[in-house]
Amino acid sequence: MGKITPETLKLMKRKGEKISSITSYDYSTARIVDEAGIDFILVGDSAAMVMLGYPTTHAINMTEMKIFTSAVARGVKNALIVGDLPFGSYQASIEEGVKNACELIKCGANAVKIEGGSDYIVELTERLTTQGIPVMSHLGFTPQFLNALGGYKVQAKGLEQAEFILKQALKLQQAGAFAVVMEMISEEAGKYFTEKLDIPVIGIGAGRYTDGQILVIDDILGKYKDFTPKFSKRYADLNSVIGDAVQKYIDEVKTKKFPTEEHIFAMKEEEKEKLKNASYINC
Ligand code: KIV
Repeated sequence: MGKITPETLKLMKRKGEKISSITSYDYSTARIVDEAGIDFILVGDSAAMVMLGYPTTHAINMTEMKIFTSAVARGVKNALIVGDLPFGSYQASIEEGVKNACELIKCGANAVKIEGGSDYIVELTERLTTQGIPVMSHLGFTPQFLNALGGYKVQAKGLEQAEFILKQALKLQQAGAFAVVMEMISEEAGKYFTEKLDIPVIGIGAGRYTDGQILVIDDILGKYKDFTPKFSKRYADLNSVIGDAVQKYIDEVKTKKFPTEEHIFAMKEEEKEKLKNASYINC
């Protein structure tokens, strides 16, 4: 399989092939995920919560996002890498948004993701796409707007809000966005958006009918236990795997079972003899 591009994802939609996607934030995980055959990796600002322990995504900054993005890029051969523009990196001006998007591309991202669908975001999307930076949009529940939305609320539960979101998505598509993440919306709206848009709709809590799915890796691996969203599914229990392994290691250190001969570096025999007879170490 070769490198996945925004065009590949659009083609997958046209062929009715489902798109798989997951977040990653570090080299070794990104390498495993890429080798498993994921279509695209999002270096999400969810790193603020699952990697850095903040309660929301607001606190993460460009410096941190650049470190995570370049670590992921070093581990990936085939998957498309999407870097998330964090809160505060594009709100002040279009120019700042363009500059920060360029920074993520320099770190190895192949595209950037931007939350929101206001006219300002549409303009930023157009500026970026016309300058060769592919943009993935993000609508529905947008975590960076948590304060404005008044909490973790399912979006597009009725026709009026669904129409409002669809209008924004159509404008973003027109501005050049190559895909759109739809988060925490009713399944009916997810299906409606998927049918109405030409670009792939990637759902996270958007039901069964979107062109693709994305989840946060720490959630599916059972590593992040602070909060498990209803829309996520746990495929492993790394919390127990890591806890049990570390417990065993502690036990073996305390009971002198680790390290054993296979883990040590020995001196040559003649050096051992010299060491035995040495009355002091000349240093
Ligand atoms: O930051 C993130 O992980 C995301 C996904 C939830 C889509 O934006």
